[in-house]
Amino acid sequence: MSGLVECDMSQKYQFTVNGREEFLETDGDRPLLDALREDLGLTGTKYGCGEGACGACTVLMDGSAVRSCITSVADAAGMRIETIEGLAGRDELHPVQQAFIDQGAMQCGYCVPGQIMSAVALLRRQAQPSREEIIANMNGNMCRCCNYPSILAAVEQVANRA
Ligand code: FES
Ligand code: FES
Repeated sequence: MSGLVECDMSQKYQFTVNGREEFLETDGDRPLLDALREDLGLTGTKYGCGEGACGACTVLMDGSAVRSCITSVADAAGMRIETIEGLAGRDELHPVQQAFIDQGAMQCGYCVPGQIMSAVALLRRQAQPSREEIIANMNGNMCRCCNYPSILAAVEQVANRA
């Protein structure tokens, strides 16, 4: 007897991504990161460790920073997802994006989308975090280029402007 069994786990999932309603027919166990990058073409969100430890894949889900590599499509269904592509306005960058440029807070840039999304989540819930609070919030976002002083300066630039 043949052991070939076709098993289609696809279901239809709905999300709002950067203000736009999206429907995906896919396996609900897939990482949200894969769906964003491969199905929706939103490659600004990066794959680093794939196990929730580096923060490169950080996106916002109903306003909270989450690791999209360990968030399933099924868990994200019905949620409001924001990625780095959705931050800038038509004519200007988001203040946190601008601050990263102003402070030179990127070298290779690989970690930067995740860093910025984590910072945005913090600054939305707390407009003027202290240096210690910024460090505690950003602690899970790794930078292989060790650009931490400039990243901190960028987040402080926005916090001090509030
Ligand atoms: S790729 Fe998701 S936390 Fe590292
Ligand atoms: S700027 Fe290179 S990993 Fe952070």
